[in-house]
Amino acid sequence: MTTLVTQAVVDESEDAARRERFPIGARVEFDDLLEAGKERVLDELRAREPVSWVPALGGWLVTGRDPARALLAPRADITVESEQNLVRRSLGLMMLTSDADEHRRLRRPFEAPFKPRAVHELFADTVRREAGSLIDTFVAEGRCELGGSFAAPFAVRMAGRMLGLSLGDSASIERIYNAFAEAMVYDGDTEGRQLKAESARATLDTLLHSELARCRRDPSDSITSRVALEHEGLSDEEIVAQLRVIMFGAIETIQASTMNTLLLLLQHPAQFQEVKEDPGLLIGAVAEAIRLIPPVAFVERWTRDEIELSGVRIPAREFVGVSVLAANRDPSTFSSPLSYDVHRPNASQALSFAFGVHTCLGVHLARLETQVAVEELIARLPSLALGDHDLPGGFAFRRPASMTLTWSTA
Ligand code: HEM
Repeated sequence: MTTLVTQAVVDESEDAARRERFPIGARVEFDDLLEAGKERVLDELRAREPVSWVPALGGWLVTGRDPARALLAPRADITVESEQNLVRRSLGLMMLTSDADEHRRLRRPFEAPFKPRAVHELFADTVRREAGSLIDTFVAEGRCELGGSFAAPFAVRMAGRMLGLSLGDSASIERIYNAFAEAMVYDGDTEGRQLKAESARATLDTLLHSELARCRRDPSDSITSRVALEHEGLSDEEIVAQLRVIMFGAIETIQASTMNTLLLLLQHPAQFQEVKEDPGLLIGAVAEAIRLIPPVAFVERWTRDEIELSGVRIPAREFVGVSVLAANRDPSTFSSPLSYDVHRPNASQALSFAFGVHTCLGVHLARLETQVAVEELIARLPSLALGDHDLPGGFAFRRPASMTLTWSTA
């Protein structure tokens, strides 16, 4: 039975002492972590206080890449098993909210199909087909809002395909996952959003249980059929909980990686031209986009025991967040970190897929989906140009809220 850590309450005098010791962190406002265009606040924090007390977050914030990696590395004094974990409150108990043996038990049955070779064998054709058939629906129009017309429905359809699930209409799945994503914001104002997430979870669970039953009645070679029949020590509730997080992991993130990569390419015409001439460069273009605008911008952990990180002592039972966005712009690892460079040799050293035992299960599939989606869009939409668009923002998940593309239909 898992014992959840209850986050310690920091009293006023301790908070005041910490504000004095970490003046830059004390000045950070929650909007600095959420809104587009405020990334330089994080750059200042990383330069002066790479591990800092940030009252606006109600916890510590790690912005340096080295301490972030040290925090995420496998270690017994750091946990995701906390009462206050908003991912757990929305998505329940599953691999991403479990530590150690329990985490291994829940993740292992799903690992084989997500290894690099398996991903290419199982999914490469499907990804290209799904991307192509969506583009068919709007190619004649000469313009689209990329998120609504392509990136979101592509991510939902692929999530269903990879698991072998019939998810029905992709807009209702998107609504469910938006409710989860909105409930993962640590701004101290979570109750209403959590209620919406709980109701979304109930709707999704009904669908997933009935799909599990269908896979048992009428099995295919899908991931869900295999796990449903072989069980591998998991109860139905546990299988459904893992399907929930695997799907969640694959929706908002893929929407973001597709939009962010195209945004950056279109903002850098010379590099866009290079990629058009040599689609092999898309591997670097996608890795670099995922570094500079990480779809998952924030990762949460709690201390089980007191730890020391970059010379800062953090007591037991405290909230420690990693700003993936800040760590990925750390000049000690990435030269000219604020520029987009499809040739950057070490873009994959970014922490965008985390590090340690919770490293993204779908990392290879994510790269494949994004590369193929962007390649198909570029190939099918001539004279592609960027229309009205928002700058990428968001606390936990980062992308432009909306982004218009135009192309020639002549
Ligand atoms: C560009 C797209 C993606 C990004 C940036 C991304 C990022 C991440 C990150 C940062 C984590 C770790 C979170 C933490 O440690 O707290 C994670 C975990 C996870 N991701 Fe992804 N992800 C992406 C796509 C996918 C896809 C396509 C799948 C589908 C298989 C997926 C499934 C998962 C799962 C199941 C976990 C939990 C792993 C565990 O706890 O052991 N992700 N992802």
